[in-house]
Amino acid sequence: NAVPRFVSPLPIPSVIDATANKNRSITMTVSQFRQDLGLKSAAGNPLLTTVWGYNGQYPGPTILAQKDQSIQVRWLNRLVGPTGAPLPHLLPVDHSIAWTHMPTPGVPIATHLHGGHTESDSDGLPDAWYTPYAQNKGPEYKKGENIPYTYDNSQEAATLWYHDHTMGITRLNVYAGLAGFYLLTDGTENGLRQSRHLPDSRYDIGLAIQDRLFTADGQLFYPSEPEVANAPNPSVLPEFFGNIILVNGKAWPVLRVEPRQYRFRLLNASDSRFYNLRLTQDLTMWQVGSDCGLLPQPVAQPELLLAPGERKDVVIDFSNAALRGRTILITNDAATPYPDGDPVGPHDSEAQIMAFRVDVPLNAAYPLTPLPASFHKPLPPVPTTTTVRKLILVEGEDEYGRLLPMLGTMQQGAMEHHDPITENPALNSTEIWEIYNLTEDAHPVHLHLVSFRVLGSRTFTGTVDPHTAALSNVQFTGPLLPPEPGQAGLKDTYPIAPGQVTRLVATFDRKGLYAWHCHILSHEDHDMMRPFYVGKMPA
Ligand code: C2O
Ligand code: CU
Repeated sequence: NAVPRFVSPLPIPSVIDATANKNRSITMTVSQFRQDLGLKSAAGNPLLTTVWGYNGQYPGPTILAQKDQSIQVRWLNRLVGPTGAPLPHLLPVDHSIAWTHMPTPGVPIATHLHGGHTESDSDGLPDAWYTPYAQNKGPEYKKGENIPYTYDNSQEAATLWYHDHTMGITRLNVYAGLAGFYLLTDGTENGLRQSRHLPDSRYDIGLAIQDRLFTADGQLFYPSEPEVANAPNPSVLPEFFGNIILVNGKAWPVLRVEPRQYRFRLLNASDSRFYNLRLTQDLTMWQVGSDCGLLPQPVAQPELLLAPGERKDVVIDFSNAALRGRTILITNDAATPYPDGDPVGPHDSEAQIMAFRVDVPLNAAYPLTPLPASFHKPLPPVPTTTTVRKLILVEGEDEYGRLLPMLGTMQQGAMEHHDPITENPALNSTEIWEIYNLTEDAHPVHLHLVSFRVLGSRTFTGTVDPHTAALSNVQFTGPLLPPEPGQAGLKDTYPIAPGQVTRLVATFDRKGLYAWHCHILSHEDHDMMRPFYVGKMPA
């Protein structure tokens, strides 16, 4: 197959406006279908790719929601064939890490609203999976097909996203297409739109970036050949890197733009790839938001690092007359694995993400939106506490000798997902999580439920127990460096650099079971994910 670049128009997912009263209760149906991802046969004909999506599209529809207006979503699993019989997985499943205890037939799903301040029963936890028609369910599935998930949207305007989170197959279900945007708005953001300080919805576009591999006939390919002898085949691998870049489900698309300001919601929905994004023509990205909210003022970003799971909202100004008729590329030069792996050179296919072409006449009916110096929206105060929880990111080996990235506590060492809960913040308590990265790679750490603030990062040395990986004799070897301004706002995912300890602070204000994990999907599946429980644990 051939993959033309900057020819296919950028797809804009359809919108479900759940801010309208009649739309507060919606149904999202997961199914399998074929879609044009921008691939061509040798003869130049479009190739259709079998994917999974929500309501017949990949990425799923963009849900619009409003702060403090609760919405209800029924997430239906219809991964079934024409006769209603459950379909097999599209991709090779490693039964040694998951699904061994999951009943067949049927592929389970579990939908998580990433960044959502959501009640535990609606969080879409990894063990809240269910097969088609909810015939079989995981231990944490507290609903039924007719009992919707509730999102009360008790948080400020932010670029959230929903995606599959099923235990042990999250990487495969997301790779097959199960992801979409959930844009939460509020009065402050609407005010900024009305005062023309932020582009309005026509000029406010989500960009979900994903790397993929395809077979010769244009089907999704996910490598699963074990890297060590005697490991099961198919096998989970330490990371996944594809060399075809999709944005909103289309390979290297182009967006034709007016000579004006646009807001783009950048989302890294890839498995393992970090992106370090830049614009050609010396254009600057003005970052206006981070994972869980707007920044107090636009931050000029000549380059922007985007780890898996992160969102960064930017405004790009195409109004300069010198750009008329020009093509502007988003490029990438982040090494894989990040930060010390293989460099991405300018001629590698992954060095290009998508294009903008400034050739649409200005819509005079809609005024330009020059960015103000400030949004006059200070960040909420950073909560203070003396409670510090010391945690580790560590790599070990599983019983087959495969890489096993894990989380753990500084005192007890590495833990797997099913080990007993060790993170049990009291309800409404504020805690600092001090997370030591003992590995060679950066890991984007994500906490469910909370928006956190990054206090800072520093280098350290210490003694790692060779059996448990417990960490002792810690010495800080550098100053505590605060996050850069674009990372100083409300966050839910933050890449912790190798050899560094990062301090996050959050208030745990909803009771129940949640999860924290590395957002490299191959890592969270095996086994870099841990439960946490807020409040008194059931006996
Ligand atoms: Cu985006 Cu626990 O996930
Ligand atoms: Cu990781």
